Amino acid sequence: MDHPVADLTDIDAAAELARLAAEIAAHSVAYHGEDAPTISDADYDALVQRNAAIEAAFPHLKRADSPSEKVGSAPASQFGKVRHARPMLSLDNAFSDEDVHDFVGRVRRFLLLGEDVPVVLTAEPKFDGLSASLRYEMGVLVRGATRGDGSEGEDVTANLRMVGDVPQHLTGAGWPDVLEVRGEIYMSKADFAALNTAQTTSGDKTFANPRNAAAGSLRQIDPEITRARPLRFYVHGWGEMSDEPQGTAAGMMQRLAGWGFPVSDRLQLCADAAAAISYYRALEHDRAGLPFDIDGVVYKVDRLDWQARLGQVARAPRWAIAHKFPAERAETILLGIDTQIGRTGKVTPVARLEPVTVGGVVVSNATLHNADEIGRLGVHPGDRVVVQRAGDVIPQIVENLSRDDSREPWAFPTSCGECGSALAREEGEVDFRCTGGLVCPAQRVERLRHFVSRNAFDIEGLGARSIQEFFDEGLIVSPADIFRLHAHREALVGREGWGEQSVAKLLAAIDARRNVGLDRFLFALGIRHVGEVTARDLARAFVGLDALRAATHEDLLAVDGIGGVVAGAVIDFFAEPHNRSVVDDLVQEAPPVEVVFAAKASAVSGKTLVFTGSLTAFSRDEAKAQADALGAKVAGSVSAKTDLVIAGPGAGSKLTKAAALGVAVIDEAAWLEIVRSANAQ
Ligand code: IVH
Repeated sequence: MDHPVADLTDIDAAAELARLAAEIAAHSVAYHGEDAPTISDADYDALVQRNAAIEAAFPHLKRADSPSEKVGSAPASQFGKVRHARPMLSLDNAFSDEDVHDFVGRVRRFLLLGEDVPVVLTAEPKFDGLSASLRYEMGVLVRGATRGDGSEGEDVTANLRMVGDVPQHLTGAGWPDVLEVRGEIYMSKADFAALNTAQTTSGDKTFANPRNAAAGSLRQIDPEITRARPLRFYVHGWGEMSDEPQGTAAGMMQRLAGWGFPVSDRLQLCADAAAAISYYRALEHDRAGLPFDIDGVVYKVDRLDWQARLGQVARAPRWAIAHKFPAERAETILLGIDTQIGRTGKVTPVARLEPVTVGGVVVSNATLHNADEIGRLGVHPGDRVVVQRAGDVIPQIVENLSRDDSREPWAFPTSCGECGSALAREEGEVDFRCTGGLVCPAQRVERLRHFVSRNAFDIEGLGARSIQEFFDEGLIVSPADIFRLHAHREALVGREGWGEQSVAKLLAAIDARRNVGLDRFLFALGIRHVGEVTARDLARAFVGLDALRAATHEDLLAVDGIGGVVAGAVIDFFAEPHNRSVVDDLVQEAPPVEVVFAAKASAVSGKTLVFTGSLTAFSRDEAKAQADALGAKVAGSVSAKTDLVIAGPGAGSKLTKAAALGVAVIDEAAWLEIVRSANAQ
């Protein structure tokens, strides 16, 4: 049974749109691509209508691959996958002047630069489009891809060839044999308005904003449709290059311009944080008058040798930051407050709003975060509130205009709407949690959804809605059941929305993900406090799941990046008999594989190092990052497990201990030599 559209939360709606996009795409391949419809026309139309109804109520959640954008054409999953030679990174955000000063401060500390050494930055608009990677070999465009998850995107070469700003052949001279450029595909405000007018006239769907229009236009299966859409391109960086770029970012952008790429004429050098902030103010002032949408400014450390040393943390470079413009706000009425239960039982209050347009998008739900936030705002249904929306984040309520502190606070529910268990809040925690644990169907379903999600097992076609249905019917109650779904093939075929082909496709997608890396496997388990980065740290430190399961609290604490809270959570997780049996069962069906981390081969690969004393050429953080890149671990204290101590001036007790244990000791210069020779390979 479909829930009425008016009852959906943002999260429900997004999940359902994702499921509908996948389902409609699958049926559409069967129908258009293979001439073998898997469901009746009426049922197909019902799916399309449901998708349209949800999109109308939640236009801000409309997907780049929305089925309403490509009725009659084959689905997006038809695009081949492209592995990026260098990952496409994202950016950390700065929201205030102080954040920008902090960014420069972090760069200084990491590189151990004195206050008198200038940190020159480039500043340029943050274009509000979608990023694309273009690969040129011997000066000829050979491949174009979307960002995807940063490591792997979709092959949209044919469509990118239709974008006038994208050179097919490089011009000028001196380009490297292999050149990957990165930039933003966007649509100008005027072209967007004209496109929507044309779409209205022809009875076609209109787009919520230029960014959606650009995304929808690029991901067309028929490149002729893309050709007819006025897409544009700005270059903002590069990926793989056969000759490593030298000098400065600004210099490199100039060379890219010389080779035929459009570079923003607002690209500017800033001598320091204060100059960068003035640039930001000026651009903010001009924002409305610019021909295209921007959502902030991007600053990058100009010196490329510094960029290389700074490297990246998780998925964002240490050498760049996005300074965002303030979020857009609007007033509306709070109609009611619902709660949603997450996979750890966390209760999130959700505000139902009288629909209101915020920055060009209609918003009807917003998050209230937690009970404290409700108390802070003093909100009650019926109040007039200010709702804020920034980029892709879920809208939130930032102010209550009807605040009246003489009223009793809104009564937060005391029991779970899904399982009836008590909601409780631990000492010092902001969130209420449903105490139902595995009894609570909402938590179990959320855990399964997390398990199959993109950064976990990444099972294509097993959407939130299917998980709910399969769970309700007892087909999937624990993760291992997913890999036994083929036993229910008969039961699946012929269900509403499923046919021979879509079931075959789903089972194939499941099979394809039977052996993921240990990092994804651990992340998928949903152990408290074990996010993607921690899961990677653990997978890197322990060879195999068994080694991790056997680890003591002490072993875990010895892992770089793991503290007491995480260590405790991992121990607790594997101490719980139920978890152990769920994992055992899963390992039978889907054993994880060892992950090969691309560390450079070096004299210190796999070794445990200790830095002590003061370093002069770089900071402790940089030394740690260098060791990490060379496949070594850094420990805080010298023990029998230490392989090498790097000692600077002023080293004390650690040096004495190293001598007592017979551990090798080198100085900073010798360490630099190790780093240099590994990097020279
Ligand atoms: S630099 C590693 N410069 O913003 C550096 N990105 O939020 C990443 N973007 O995925 C790219 N304008 O698609 C850079 N002037 C600009 C940009 C820009 C827009 C996008 C880019 C990136 C996203 C990160």
